[in-house]
Amino acid sequence: MKGSRYRYHQAVREATEALNSSLPTKEVLKNIAQATAKELSASACSIVVLDSSQRQLVHGVWWGLSDSYLHKGVMDAERSLPELLEGKVVTVVDAATDTRVQYPEVAAREGIVSIMAVPLAIQGAIVGSVRVCTKERREFTTEDTDFLSTIAALCGVALDKSRLLQALKSRRRHGRASTQPAATTVSSQLTRPASFAHPSEEEFVHLLDFYGIEWLYEPRSFALRWEGERTTQMFTPDFYLPALDMYIELTTLKQSSVKEKNRKMRRLKELYPDVKIRLLYKRDYERLLAKYGYGPIADAKGQGVGKVLLSSQQIQRRVKALAVQLSQDYADRNPLLVGMLRGVFCFMADLVRNMSIPLDIDFMAISYYTSEEAAAVKITKDLEHNIANRHVILVEDIVDTGMTLNYILNYLKSRDPASLAVCTLLDKRVRRLVDVPLAYVGIEIPDEFVVGYGLDYQEKYRNLPFIALMEQEGSPAQPSGISASMKRRRRRQKKAPE
Ligand code: IMP
Repeated sequence: MKGSRYRYHQAVREATEALNSSLPTKEVLKNIAQATAKELSASACSIVVLDSSQRQLVHGVWWGLSDSYLHKGVMDAERSLPELLEGKVVTVVDAATDTRVQYPEVAAREGIVSIMAVPLAIQGAIVGSVRVCTKERREFTTEDTDFLSTIAALCGVALDKSRLLQALKSRRRHGRASTQPAATTVSSQLTRPASFAHPSEEEFVHLLDFYGIEWLYEPRSFALRWEGERTTQMFTPDFYLPALDMYIELTTLKQSSVKEKNRKMRRLKELYPDVKIRLLYKRDYERLLAKYGYGPIADAKGQGVGKVLLSSQQIQRRVKALAVQLSQDYADRNPLLVGMLRGVFCFMADLVRNMSIPLDIDFMAISYYTSEEAAAVKITKDLEHNIANRHVILVEDIVDTGMTLNYILNYLKSRDPASLAVCTLLDKRVRRLVDVPLAYVGIEIPDEFVVGYGLDYQEKYRNLPFIALMEQEGSPAQPSGISASMKRRRRRQKKAPE
């Protein structure tokens, strides 16, 4: 026994030294996983973490597990050794027959016979577990479980340290505490790859990070075809957005080469009807980038205002109808209308002038990239009203991907309004990525870049009384003021992630 205890001490010392080193967190944890498996004579060790939905588990760091095992399917927190979430240690002697194992047949294929797992906590909150597997039947001793619990505690400290360092970096960058919703969960921290397969993926990640939307990179593969026990075709979507429960596949292939991918998508939808997935084609993706001021479309030359999409009369009719509806719904509630500057100024002015009830107004503004280093949305003009216990109507000019609105709604919700609803003049629903609740919608418009009635292209055309399409070589154009910094940002080599 003295021998194993000494070995354990050695392993803890090595793990603590790794933790105290300047290595990136993921490297530290990988070293710890490998050393832990070795010390316990186990075939594998993995650190499994909850995603932000708290329902699913993802493999954050591992040693000794095959690719097919790692992509076996969604790990349901309530079905994969569920007692871990109650803070209990779990030992499984025979994985093939134990009902607490979610995928016994996959475990058998991997040669896993026994499992030991302990909760992983950060400052007392359980964020996942540390698991080891053996290829032979094993009854784990108290000494083994104590050792693994010590290792898990060290992993918790490593993750906490990394979180603190990130908060510190962001504070330095923004000069104050960030208003950003906590998107950097342990799961996104650990699934962030050192490099992406394609630059488009990295660009997409910038955008998600900017809007505080948590993402996991390739956390799951879907079996599409199989022969007996053998999977013959898999599909691994690029991203999973836990808060939206949605997968995203980016395809930068030419439209003509997309057929195969489309086939896979159709098969996936047939086999897994509950899985929400969005395929962003090259064109969709370029349009998305163009809106933020970069990519080939944004670099094309603007041609000026094109066809009128909505006449002044059409707009006024819809604005009046919305004002009547709001006046009915908010009678006796003295609502506070919050307008998102600047595109909203025409709509807000007409809307409130047509409302027949007492109300207050306020405005907010956000910047896209006010400084070179801005990595997250900044609120450049905050509310002047206290919205606690107020009935708030957020007034928007246009909702496109929904990322801006999603951010603002999270921000407003944290200030405890009595109620919060969104009223938007235009809804470009086909481009939605984040499913934001829109209580009042003026007009749904197609996937075109529009200007006028407050909406701009490089600060121009806001004063048009109608809404028109922007005519461009590769339309759409980008909104104002963000192009240069986005381009600069894109040129900068992204630093290796922590
Ligand atoms: P989202 O975050 O993608 O929903 O973008 C919303 C913001 O993008 C709006 O508030 C506008 O500032 C801008 N935007 C989106 N589409 C257009 C457009 O067609 N014309 C002008 N601005 C647009």
